Amino acid sequence: MTDVAEIERQHSELVNMFSNLNDAVKKNESREIIYKIIDDVISFTRAHFADEEQLMITSGYTEIESHKTMHRELIDEALHLKGKFDYVDEHAFRDWLNHWPLGRVLAHIKYADTHFEEYIAQKGIK
Ligand SMILES: [Fe+2]
Ligand SMILES: [Fe+2]
Repeated sequence: MTDVAEIERQHSELVNMFSNLNDAVKKNESREIIYKIIDDVISFTRAHFADEEQLMITSGYTEIESHKTMHRELIDEALHLKGKFDYVDEHAFRDWLNHWPLGRVLAHIKYADTHFEEYIAQKGIK
């Protein structure tokens, strides 16, 4: 069962995954390795979003719809960019990674998710 503690655990796992991705880019790892990390990040993020949305339903969070839209946009954007990777040269590939939109997931955690966690805390849901 998903609770706030589990959501927070997933957030720290995501932060770790992003830092691994950054390290791999800095170390100039092969595309194969970087693709694998990105695939893992995307699937973990999808599962995390689903868990978080479930907790929003059970806690009666009123801003669930706009929050779900943000989740969908983040995933769509990541998939769109990933779909273009095979068609760009090495320079553009590295450059794109430095602006990898999943980094925006971190901003999402910091603002939108914190708003939700405050709601949960206010309602006294454990
Ligand atoms: Fe989240
Ligand atoms: Fe979220």
